[in-house]
Amino acid sequence: MSDNIHSAIVASTSPAGQAIWVLEGERTAYAFGLDRFGCLQHMYWGPRLRAASDYGEPSPALERFAHERVAGVSQEEYPAWGDIKYLEPCLKVAFADGVRSAMLRYAKAAILAGDEAPELVISFADDHYPLLVDLHYRLWGEHDLIERFAVIRNTGNEPINLEQTLSALWHLPLDETYRLRTLGGRWGGEFQISEVLAPLGKQIIESRRGITSAHANPWFGIDRNGSASETHGDVWFGALAYSGNWKLVVERNAYGQTMIAGGIHDFDHTWKLDAGESFTTPSFVAGFTAEGYGDASRLLHRFQLDVVMPRSTANTLLPVLYNSWYVTEFDVNFENQAAAARKAADLGIELFVMDDGWFGVRDDDTSGLGDWTVDKRKFPNGLTPLIDYVNSLGMEFGIWVEPEMVNIQSDLYARHPDWIYHFPTRPRSESRHQLVLNFGRADVQAFVLDFMHELLSNHNIRFVKWDMNRSFSEPGYPDAEDGREREVWVRHVQGLYRIFAELREAHPQVMFESCSSGGGRVDLGILRYVEDFWMSDNVDPLDNLLMYEGYSMAYAPKAKMMWVNDPFHWTNRAPSLTFRFHQAMTGALGVGANLLRWSAEEMTEAREHIAMYKRIRPIVQHGRLYRLASLREGDWAAFQYVGADDKETVVLVFLQASRFGASRRWLRLQGLAPDAQYRIEGAETVLSGAALMARGVQIELRGDLQSTLLHLKQI
Ligand code: DGJ
Repeated sequence: MSDNIHSAIVASTSPAGQAIWVLEGERTAYAFGLDRFGCLQHMYWGPRLRAASDYGEPSPALERFAHERVAGVSQEEYPAWGDIKYLEPCLKVAFADGVRSAMLRYAKAAILAGDEAPELVISFADDHYPLLVDLHYRLWGEHDLIERFAVIRNTGNEPINLEQTLSALWHLPLDETYRLRTLGGRWGGEFQISEVLAPLGKQIIESRRGITSAHANPWFGIDRNGSASETHGDVWFGALAYSGNWKLVVERNAYGQTMIAGGIHDFDHTWKLDAGESFTTPSFVAGFTAEGYGDASRLLHRFQLDVVMPRSTANTLLPVLYNSWYVTEFDVNFENQAAAARKAADLGIELFVMDDGWFGVRDDDTSGLGDWTVDKRKFPNGLTPLIDYVNSLGMEFGIWVEPEMVNIQSDLYARHPDWIYHFPTRPRSESRHQLVLNFGRADVQAFVLDFMHELLSNHNIRFVKWDMNRSFSEPGYPDAEDGREREVWVRHVQGLYRIFAELREAHPQVMFESCSSGGGRVDLGILRYVEDFWMSDNVDPLDNLLMYEGYSMAYAPKAKMMWVNDPFHWTNRAPSLTFRFHQAMTGALGVGANLLRWSAEEMTEAREHIAMYKRIRPIVQHGRLYRLASLREGDWAAFQYVGADDKETVVLVFLQASRFGASRRWLRLQGLAPDAQYRIEGAETVLSGAALMARGVQIELRGDLQSTLLHLKQI
């Protein structure tokens, strides 16, 4: 085993002659090998060790009991259901003759150089049936992450029904107790951090809503018994790249095993794999760090910037945008949008986005979805005059769409009532007065592509906010081919990804935002096609600080869009403009307030904040995030960003409520060069990186909902 820090996939053989593979990242290693039965057994996942022998040997049995077969008490990397095995199966199939058991045996392995990352492919074949399974392991060594997915093939003449097709199962070190951290919530309260000690048995985190969901997010963090903090401790973490029904199953058993399996949800799902076809699972990316949740997040953030996010904009800075949704709602027209645009341009905003209401007959949420032609009552001469006007003010133009939906009151529904998911004998349950179009249908995909191509080809549109405002219900497809009725869940996501891929290819100048009533579709799957996520419809800045802490466990600051709004009626809180700006400046910045009502002083202050944001934007969007203080632990929250070139750092500090005698707080910074000298902008103070990290800086804030921004530069 090499001693240097180069990452590599290393194939070797154990003293007993068993094949072993070690995926060595820069700091971590993941090892597995073949046991004597030809099963792939997990061996190790943790800090990188020195010698091949350090990783142990693939062993089939953890315990020997008369009533368990060895294969059932082992650490199989990708257990298929069949045999005497009771772990959560990654694969469950039914063959045409009714046999519902898969027996996978090792066939071959190949290490591929890969365009961006080396990849190990281990192939298995069923003992009896024409079923092949390729397990893919991509090593992102610099990010210390492993990306896993499986390809399942039918090489026979008869269909095979796939009943469970998970992406991966991850084994944690044996004989430990673990704490599981997850992200859950609801509409308006996404990304709440929740923690539980993994119980004996199973803990399931899932979405069965058809979308990623605001109620749970396909990310996990696991540490030893709650021993990890932001800065210390072993953390295993991962995220599933999928935007439909998913599940993560955390299982602990009495043999000392703790595992996390994840992928497409098997609920109401089967996939008919026809002769000669293959099925590819979504990717499940996971990693290990010995340096706490902060480092786990930074590894995922860097991976998103370097690998996942659309390549065309990964290295460019996202514009400051304006969106008028909370001001005009559906009542958009040339005059009110132009008036808002003038104000926005005056603030230094770079992109003006018109939200819902511009198409069909859409005066409220009861009608119009599906009719993607400009409403001539509101825009008598089409969209071009507004777009030209916005452009003449020096801003780009963006627009809102919700292509997966239809209102019953629409021409589209009158023409194609069969295009929605439905069961013939059941009601078509509306939610927000809308129904979901069946994106698995080729005609629906063609319709969406047509109107989107037309919209984007005939207008100078640079940004699309793609919304999706309801969960699925009655997921029927009466015209589905026999045996394919339950494929709708997956086919919808495939259709969505296909449309995004085609739109991005055809309109490379357009950026996209993923919105699903806020953060209902935030995941690594959709992030391949969008520049940012609208994190939440709840724009209260205090609530947002908590949501952002959870969001940033998994997702990059750059991809978080939040607007500075007027004080929010729902929470009836009135934070200062500074507090609202500072909060929104923790990611990609937007403004959503009624600028026509802002005073000259407010406009001046906002202009200064936006100018400041533009100065720190490279650090926030492309730097490294350190969470210094959490509202979950007290009255303070603080987020520090270190620029990609290490030369500058920005700290945004927030105080929820002043306590008598507790207006000052030391914050120890992180991620700085210890020997470098840093000057705090606007002050004379010069401190070494070492001092800033060991002693810190003292922040003084008085009053409720206070905030400050520190910008430090190396001298
Ligand atoms: C839900 C989104 O989250 C909002 O920002 C807004 O776009 C509305 N939909 C429009 O209907």
